[in-house]
Amino acid sequence: MAASGVNPALPASVLVLGGGYSGRRFADTLRRQGCSVSLTTRREPQEAERPGNDGCRWLRFDPEAGVVPTAADLAGIEAVLVTIPPDAQGGDPVLQHLGTTLQALAPRWVGYLSTTGVYGDSGGDWVDEDSPTRPGLPRSRARLACEQAWRQLDLPLQIFRLPAIYGPGRSPLEQLRNGTARLIHKPGQVFSRVHVDDIAGALLHCLALPAERRPETLILADTCPCPSSEMLGFAAHLLDCKLPPLQPYARIEAELSPMARSFWSENRRASSRRLRQEVGYRLRFPTYREGLSALTARRT
Ligand SMILES: NC(=O)c1ccc[n+]([C@@H]2O[C@H](COP(=O)([O-])OP(=O)(O)OC[C@H]3O[C@@H](n4cnc5c(N)ncnc54)[C@H](OP(=O)(O)O)[C@@H]3O)[C@@H](O)[C@H]2O)c1
Repeated sequence: MAASGVNPALPASVLVLGGGYSGRRFADTLRRQGCSVSLTTRREPQEAERPGNDGCRWLRFDPEAGVVPTAADLAGIEAVLVTIPPDAQGGDPVLQHLGTTLQALAPRWVGYLSTTGVYGDSGGDWVDEDSPTRPGLPRSRARLACEQAWRQLDLPLQIFRLPAIYGPGRSPLEQLRNGTARLIHKPGQVFSRVHVDDIAGALLHCLALPAERRPETLILADTCPCPSSEMLGFAAHLLDCKLPPLQPYARIEAELSPMARSFWSENRRASSRRLRQEVGYRLRFPTYREGLSALTARRT
């Protein structure tokens, strides 16, 4: 880090559109590198300012309520991360309400968090950045359309496709502790996942790379897609608690919410080979085993 406190490879001022789970974690990582960070929320900014994110500036972005940051609010921003998903109509709220402002800002990097759902169901096979996109779910079709709309703009864009995100406060450990864990078995079904600190770490790694070394599309995932029952079993082992009874998926499918059923309807393994081998990012949590072990060791 430079004497001024800001890593010279990083922008001095970053905007995170969507200060939710991943956005906040990325903001914390940037702050530790000496960057100044602005985050958006639909709530009143004072409500959003919980512990952590010390020194971040909160802006209100609530397009439905007609509240949008102005060009003056965003003056001096050098890089932007978008974590906001498509809206209920499938449109991109950022493009619709801030697209022109962002283009005028001419940031040196725009990261967009998308989903590996754009690949659709691969029947459990591996997918990577070169695999064809065949989204099966309406929300994944909307997502792919948003990706394509972002690519139309003249911005230094990187699209990050994410599988299920886990980390502090969002893991089977909480489900076991609060009694909501379900041990569901569907033959052959696996899920891919990524620890939120590896999202933040990989984003930071890419941001510090020379522009020509940043892939346009990058999957952020760990190396161990596996059944959810396997991860739950390890979580129970770490907590030294009993597992809930095994439920065959076929028997409980009808009682699941449409959202839960949609998650179980697709089966794929997301490869992070490009991230690790071409981009040179070293995963902090290569599998759920390191991730859950660290979560039981420290509650942050
Ligand atoms: N969670 C997963 O397992 C998963 C898996 C794959 C991909 N993804 C995608 O990865 C991204 C980050 O996920 P996350 O779990 O970190 O997200 P998150 O915690 O839900 O945070 C999303 C952020 O976007 C803001 N937002 C949502 N809709 C908005 C709208 N219509 N207008 C303005 N702001 C809006 C939220 O604002 P408020 O603070 O006001 O709520 C929040 O700050 C999302 O695009 C998500 O769809 C997530």
